[in-house]
Amino acid sequence: MRQENSGAVPRHIAIIMDGNGRWAKKRFLPRLAGHKQGVESLRRCARACVERGVQVLTVFAFSSENWSRPEEEVSGLMGLLATALAKEVKQLSRDGVRLHFVGERAGLSDKVCAGLADAEKTTAHNDRLILNVCFNYGGRWDIVQAAAQLAARGEPMTEQALARAMALAHVPDPDLLIRTGGEMRVSNFLLWQLAYAELFFSSCLWPDFDEATLDEAIAVFAGRERRFGQTSEQVQQTS
Ligand code: FPP
Repeated sequence: MRQENSGAVPRHIAIIMDGNGRWAKKRFLPRLAGHKQGVESLRRCARACVERGVQVLTVFAFSSENWSRPEEEVSGLMGLLATALAKEVKQLSRDGVRLHFVGERAGLSDKVCAGLADAEKTTAHNDRLILNVCFNYGGRWDIVQAAAQLAARGEPMTEQALARAMALAHVPDPDLLIRTGGEMRVSNFLLWQLAYAELFFSSCLWPDFDEATLDEAIAVFAGRERRFGQTSEQVQQTS
């Protein structure tokens, strides 16, 4: 009999929150209005993850490549991050969420960096959900920075050593990747850590993402057989 993921809730969910711009365009609103609504969606999603017993949520908020967007949108996203920190940290903390910001700090203003450090400190005691917000992040950047750390220490380049030097070394690899917005690609997100993640693509635009779509993704995940390179028969023997 085929052994499924037996109703398991993924320990770690990663999300590419795509579709904010299209959501806004459909409503004749500026793109930033879509991103603002995206923050609301993220808050709801974090709470839903807490309620479902997900331990880690990692989201792609600003990629290394997003700097090439129009200046107005880039500065809008920076401003939105500052506003979101000021507005959301208390509530996230009440929900038991611990924040981590993952990505290159160089290139971000001192004010933004101070805000990130402050939010991490304020939420450091929370233990219901780790929320990794990838900001100024790229999967290739992460692999290169990890390799550079090993080289600088003269440490042998092994898979384990590299994994320990990666920006998400504080959490297990994602079990499930969700991408909204209808595109089916990874877009330089968590290239190393997604090696064995199950992928779920939804046409839903990120601001419309709700508990029903999250539950659909979790149900699809639960029905998948995770083989990690083994055969189906081997997996069934060991489960
Ligand atoms: C992709 O949608 C989304 C982003 C580049 C930004 C994601 C940011 C948020 C959801 C807000 C949370 C951010 C902070 C600052 C905490 P898109 O703009 O590419 O949408 P489109 O494909 O419809 O144009």
